[in-house]
Amino acid sequence: MLWIVGAGGLGREVADAARAAGTPPEGFVDDRAEGPVAGLPVVRTPPEGAELLVAVGDPSTRERLVERLVAGTPAGAVVHPSATLAGGVAVSAGVVVLAGAVVSVDAVLGPHAQVHYGATVGHDTRLGRAATVLPGAHVAGSVHLGDGVLVGTGAVVLQGLAVGAGAVVGAGAVVTRDVAAGATVVGVPARPR
Ligand SMILES: CC(C)(COP(=O)(O)OP(=O)(O)OC[C@H]1O[C@@H](n2cnc3c(N)ncnc32)[C@H](O)[C@@H]1OP(=O)(O)O)[C@@H](O)C(=O)NCCC(=O)NCCS
Repeated sequence: MLWIVGAGGLGREVADAARAAGTPPEGFVDDRAEGPVAGLPVVRTPPEGAELLVAVGDPSTRERLVERLVAGTPAGAVVHPSATLAGGVAVSAGVVVLAGAVVSVDAVLGPHAQVHYGATVGHDTRLGRAATVLPGAHVAGSVHLGDGVLVGTGAVVLQGLAVGAGAVVGAGAVVTRDVAAGATVVGVPARPR
């Protein structure tokens, strides 16, 4: 009994992925939206016993919703069937992997991490809690993305680097050095903004 938290654009994308994966959601939990959304009901309070999946793009908002709603309840995970998860990939509770993404061998997707459309995650790369790789971004092998890191659309993170907790990699950036926790980096090569 999967309910998606967040009835916005990403929520509808995750609902689509869940349907494609053969686990259609029952509806959305959202206190700001009116239903129906994507043909599904929207409720303000999660139904008793619901399996919840937070579908909000911003990592810190996602974490807040996880703390408020998901703690102590079952958390779902959705992987679109057209995504490729290689051998040895660890998928934690709350993970979302959208269509066309590729996650290479022995990568670790931490709790509530997201890999969006067409993004790639290299071998042995670790995504921390709620770390997020937006559409078409490429994170190379043996990278560590700390908790709450956001990698913008089309960005590249080169192999072996560490991106500290809460850092933001701007859209289209190419990260060639470690990124400090909480920093925002942009450009090619990426520099703090
Ligand atoms: C880097 C980022 C976080 C900055 O956001 P912000 O603080 O709101 O920045 P602003 O839009 O106010 O722009 C501030 C300056 O940074 C520049 N800038 C913004 N994003 C940039 C990027 N990705 N690369 C290079 N420069 C960028 C702006 O042109 C502006 O420059 P200026 O001061 O010379 O005019 C954001 O632009 C970004 O890239 N986020 C990634 C989100 C994403 O990929 N979304 C796609 C969803 S599918």
